[in-house]
Amino acid sequence: MKDASPQTVYLSDYTPFGWQVQDVHLTFRLAPEATRVLARIHFVPNPDAPKQEFFLHGEDLTLIHAAIDGQTVSPVQSAEGLTCAVPDGPFLWECEVEIAPAKNTALEGLYMSNGMYCTQCEAEGFRKITFYPDRPDVMSVFTVRIEGDEPVKLSNGNPGKTGEGFAEWHDPWPKPAYLFALVAGDLVNHPDRFTTMNGRDVELNIWVRPGDEGKCAFGMEALKKSMKWDEDVYGREYDLDIFNIVAVDDFNMGAMENKGLNVFNSSCVLASPETSTDANFERIEAIIAHEYFHNWTGNRITCRDWFQLCLKEGLTVFRDAQFTADMRSAPVKRIEDAQMMRGRQFPEDQGPLAHPVRPESFQEINNFYTATVYEKGAEVIGMLKRLVGDEDYAKALDLYFDRHDGDAATIEDWLKVFEDATGRDLSQFKRWYSQAGTPRVTVTEDWSEGTYTLTFRQVTPPTPGQPDKAPQVIPMAVGLLNPNGDEVQPTTLLEITEAEQSFTFDGLSARPVPSLLRDFSAPVVMEREVSREERAFLLAHDTDPFNRWDASQMLGVECLIAMITEGATPDTAWLDGLERVLRDDSLDPAFRALMMGTPSQAELARVLHERGHTPDPDAIWNAAETLAQFRAERWADLLPRLAAEAAVDAPYSPDAEQVGKRALGAGVLALQTRLDGGKAAQAQFDSADNMTLQLTALGSLVRAGRDAEALAAFEEQWKDDRLVMDKWFGLQIGAAAPDVAVERAQALTQHPAFDWKNPNRFRAVLGGLAAHHAAFHRADGASYALLADWLIRLDDLNPQTTARMAAVFQTWTRYDEDRRALMRAALERIAAKLNLSRDTGEMVTRMLA
Ligand code: ARG
Ligand code: ZN
Repeated sequence: MKDASPQTVYLSDYTPFGWQVQDVHLTFRLAPEATRVLARIHFVPNPDAPKQEFFLHGEDLTLIHAAIDGQTVSPVQSAEGLTCAVPDGPFLWECEVEIAPAKNTALEGLYMSNGMYCTQCEAEGFRKITFYPDRPDVMSVFTVRIEGDEPVKLSNGNPGKTGEGFAEWHDPWPKPAYLFALVAGDLVNHPDRFTTMNGRDVELNIWVRPGDEGKCAFGMEALKKSMKWDEDVYGREYDLDIFNIVAVDDFNMGAMENKGLNVFNSSCVLASPETSTDANFERIEAIIAHEYFHNWTGNRITCRDWFQLCLKEGLTVFRDAQFTADMRSAPVKRIEDAQMMRGRQFPEDQGPLAHPVRPESFQEINNFYTATVYEKGAEVIGMLKRLVGDEDYAKALDLYFDRHDGDAATIEDWLKVFEDATGRDLSQFKRWYSQAGTPRVTVTEDWSEGTYTLTFRQVTPPTPGQPDKAPQVIPMAVGLLNPNGDEVQPTTLLEITEAEQSFTFDGLSARPVPSLLRDFSAPVVMEREVSREERAFLLAHDTDPFNRWDASQMLGVECLIAMITEGATPDTAWLDGLERVLRDDSLDPAFRALMMGTPSQAELARVLHERGHTPDPDAIWNAAETLAQFRAERWADLLPRLAAEAAVDAPYSPDAEQVGKRALGAGVLALQTRLDGGKAAQAQFDSADNMTLQLTALGSLVRAGRDAEALAAFEEQWKDDRLVMDKWFGLQIGAAAPDVAVERAQALTQHPAFDWKNPNRFRAVLGGLAAHHAAFHRADGASYALLADWLIRLDDLNPQTTARMAAVFQTWTRYDEDRRALMRAALERIAAKLNLSRDTGEMVTRMLA
């Protein structure tokens, strides 16, 4: 019988494991249906732990044999693992288990993807490989022997002996089990080398299925740039003789930082100009960097327990953002991060799934690989860096690596390093880790006789389990502009610590216009009544690129909300101000492309809700359409000029300059299509020699309803390329009109190439539908029902992907009564499923609470 009430794990219950693991020897005898795993593990009593029963995690394992110090033992087994009587002193544990990787559809532990063996052990997958203390604070040196006919057999660390039918690996760096990896199959490599700062020669490989060799070069360059960057900026050198990356088609997440053997979702590493978009290239570069950076922030210093996940993820996201800013454009990256926070993290922080950056309890840790832990976790580090300054940040990081290398550390350790390096008291700052919710900051101004006063008030709304919040430390980057547009106060950092706090600026000759929250200096919502004139002034004059962009975004929000709630016509003053920016060819095309974008419909729904309205998805869709048509007509003269500027003559390259131009071109084409019915899009589709242009054109054709031929041609061209076909599936739903998208999604689930067990394909179709705001919220509830059907079906096979996708219902309480009832019914139907997984069960329970 399944346990009806899953166990909740609490941060406050942490106790160290009773033993240390001296070394681990694993032998794998690979077979799809019956792989044997032999483990030899030396345990030594842990002097720092309370006395406890010897317990090893283990799930879905068939125990063949177990022995202690050579004597057969009969452990007591449960669904979670085993207990066993053990000697008082050190002992050798030997154990043989059988597992069936071919039957593992959850893609956690050892599983098969297209005939290839691979593993995913974070967070708690190693327990599906052998019995083990599967917790990050138990670290050990691993030696691995793989036996099988597969031509390539990889594990962590450095290669050892190889021979007919076997390969051995030894990882000298003690690591937790979640960083274990094994890959075996018919693979080919794209090789390269890197010489480290101390002259050590490292062999690099990207391993792929035969046929994909041509898609590795870009990833390899990204890897070498990452290795160099981490040396230059953080002084961190790579520490093994070899670094392997493997591309896997069936993968629940993006990628995994296993020591010396990173495993990637093939969509996050394979790239070619013909098959990948600019956005794919940028994402691949960032994820390769992210996983590589984990070698120090995650692997050399790991987490004591899973509550500390943000210790490695927040810091590593922060580091990959710095890397991207250095490789490409810092302002563009910052704007994209703010979009990500508002689009993904704020909704989480403002709904039933809200949780602190460091959660205090969970049922299933896989449900906490969230925008809050990752992206807000990175924002918290960004705030810390702003507060202490660049120099002290560098000092603190050096101390962190010195003091904690080899440790399984906590957020307390992390903050202590900053306190010791800078002398600052961070006890209030720590609330960023413990309080959930997005702080709202209101501002009032006062001007008298040359003195300008800004008064801030902060409130963080209640979140599940946290009714009352204390004031947080908010670094508020502020600049002041003169009425003529000159900056009279360059960016300065105000440190807000109180619920209400004032700051004064003296010696001003005229009342200034404030530019607040420059560079998105804190993940907060600014609530300030700003006149359109003032926003237009900032749009024209602000020296801070983020705020210049944000002024336009806010004008866009106001314009659309007025259209939705009052039937207003589009704000021409905003559009004219924006046009002046778009015509300014001294500005980076990538920046202008971002300026051209309007807030997403989901973001509008969030803001409407924030302001006390009930968002009406149909009205939002109609307003967005009306505005787009209005812009197209008003800018009819501007578009050809921008199209000319966006043209790229050189051969395709995914560099920042070309990418920026094509992004601008995409914005232009979308509007152009509203004027010419798809002529320009068809021409671009027909002549495109790269996926970015081809897919942009196809999107415009789908939106224009002129897509039948193009979709068929695209399918014919790309039917053998899985990653491109994911785009084909996703796009025709994402770009469809809201009244037909769900039927399209439904029909696509019947397509012979709809391999629903593949997470990328499942996400392309069902995730594509959920991401289409107006289509997902179709008034008859058809999309809710379709998604619920498929989640119920997927849950038996792959709980992790099911639970993640179920989160798309998290905004359900925002909407009108009818939609609420329909979404609640969908959630309740999922909740009622027989043998619902712990993953999905926890998510729907939280959303229905
Ligand atoms: N540590 C990986 C990364 O951020 C994510 C792995 C998450 N996997 C999971 N099953 N929860 O790069
Ligand atoms: Zn990570």
